[in-house]
Amino acid sequence: MNASNASLFRFNKYLYRYWKLQAAVITLGLIITPLVLLNPYLAKLIIDTAYTNKDLWLFFIIIFMGAGIFILAAFLNSLSSYLVCRIRLGIHFDLSRDLSNHIHSLALDFFHKKSSGEYLYRVTGDVPAVSAFLSNAIPQIITLFTRLISILIIVFCLNRRLALFALFLAPLNYLYHHLLGRWLKEITHRLIDKTQDILGYISELFSHMYLVKAFDGGDYETKRFLENLTKKIYCDKKNSELTTISNFTASVINKIISIIIVLYGGYLVFKGIMTLGNLAAIMIYLAQLIAVVDSIGRFYETVAISSVSCQYLAEVIGIKPQIINRPDARNYPILLGAIEFRNVSFGYQENKPVFINITFSIKEASKIALVGSSGCGKTTLLALILRLYELNDGTVLIDGVDIKDMTLQSLRAQIGIALQEPFLWNDSIKNNILYSKEDASMLEVMQAARLAEADDFIMALPKGYDTIIGENAYKISEGQKQRIAIARALIKRPKILILDEAMSSLDSETEDKIIENIKSAFRDSTIIVVSHRLSAVRKMELAYFLKNPLEIQLATPEEFIEKDSKYRELFASQIEKAPESAAIFKTE
Ligand SMILES: Nc1ncnc2c1ncn2[C@@H]1O[C@H](COP(=O)(O)OP(=O)(O)OP(=O)(O)O)[C@@H](O)[C@H]1O
Ligand SMILES: [Mg+2]
Repeated sequence: MNASNASLFRFNKYLYRYWKLQAAVITLGLIITPLVLLNPYLAKLIIDTAYTNKDLWLFFIIIFMGAGIFILAAFLNSLSSYLVCRIRLGIHFDLSRDLSNHIHSLALDFFHKKSSGEYLYRVTGDVPAVSAFLSNAIPQIITLFTRLISILIIVFCLNRRLALFALFLAPLNYLYHHLLGRWLKEITHRLIDKTQDILGYISELFSHMYLVKAFDGGDYETKRFLENLTKKIYCDKKNSELTTISNFTASVINKIISIIIVLYGGYLVFKGIMTLGNLAAIMIYLAQLIAVVDSIGRFYETVAISSVSCQYLAEVIGIKPQIINRPDARNYPILLGAIEFRNVSFGYQENKPVFINITFSIKEASKIALVGSSGCGKTTLLALILRLYELNDGTVLIDGVDIKDMTLQSLRAQIGIALQEPFLWNDSIKNNILYSKEDASMLEVMQAARLAEADDFIMALPKGYDTIIGENAYKISEGQKQRIAIARALIKRPKILILDEAMSSLDSETEDKIIENIKSAFRDSTIIVVSHRLSAVRKMELAYFLKNPLEIQLATPEEFIEKDSKYRELFASQIEKAPESAAIFKTE
């Protein structure tokens, strides 16, 4: 058994919850089978008994019986489809929930490596495909094979030789569906890959629409989209060619066998060896047999197609979460907010270290600026405090406790962070601020917004805090979004507050006000501000200067300006020019 077929079994556990419904579907299938198999026999009775004896009453009785059986079978069939649908939706829900939980348990690396298209396809394509397959696989196998064997037995009882011809249908069909399944599997792989590319492209396109418009990239994007689409359509075309050939081959095989049976059966009737009723019944059974064999073939194809989705899902589910709570991890309350990096080494890739054995500490309730050239590792350092990545070596401690001994939930719940990119949801301003503290009151929301200098502009909006972000009518600016993101970080009154270039779109006056507000409202909290703006850095008590992967230095912002040439270089354009150099630019 190959890897993808084997992955089908990984999802069996989703069936256990629905075993009662599955049993009901199987029972229904087994009840429907004799009902369906009775109809051809009724045809035989009409021809051989009612018609031959010219018994009109018997004819009516058989017709009404047939109609009754038909209606009953149709009802049971619908009931069975409804139950299968319930199982499918249940598995869909369970699988989606587990996939979502699993995805959220994975480290950030996973999201850097995977495209949004892949995740979108897992949720919108693979989960429904696997659920649909699992919900009906076992009942289908049982019902189809019961029906197949029953028909063969009946035909065998009616005429042995004809039954032998009919027997050929199954292996022939199996053989060609087996070959077809292998091709189908390959094409499905490619089809899923191309669909993922398109989904990923579309989701990126929407978030980059401003760029597309500003650079007049519409034509270029249409070309890119069509290139992606062409690849997918090519796969679709191959798929439909294969399906057409498959349908044609199947019907030709079935027809040839049917013709042989009709010829031979007709010959037997002509010779008086077999009754016309028998032949009619055999022909109807044969049609049923073809339908059953065809369904088995299609089932085999479904196994091939679904196994691809199973394989993709199994790959994602098989990724072991790297950042998890230790068995003995505890919910530590961060009381002081003192941070310590002890011999920390970290790199995203093996040969590209961002930090090599760095050690430093940030005192409780201190107000610090983290500075350094672009790409030196400031954001990375903050991510390590939140334990978003696993260290290569060393320890990060908060209040003297290794953060690995804290549960991830308790660690992250007590740290407030606002980033340069505000990452707001397409929801009301109020709900965006409440994101970090769902149970906060409206008063708390407004207080946080006031500290972030956001309350005034929010209140000026027609819908105030209920304004939906992203609704075109009340589009808000980048700076306004950043202030909402800051309010979101403040509302939970964190013991450690991190602003990573979170005010980069604001004017320095507003930035100054926010820093002052925060400093006075969060006297007991540790505040870390990352900024490329000297005015903001100067407002902090201490600056931590990340010079290179090995070295982090600390001093007051003013001391750095006086003593450190590299630091001066960093802020060269913002350090006030000496009067004589300023004079050069003075107009006459
Ligand atoms: N997810 C990632 N995968 C691989 N490398 C990364 C990743 N994120 C950052 N890096 C690399 O790590 C280094 C540090 O990046 P980081 O974002 O921490 O810098 P920074 O100091 O915050 O820069 P900036 O001031 O521009 O925000 C850079 O060389 C960057 O290319
Ligand atoms: Mg950064």
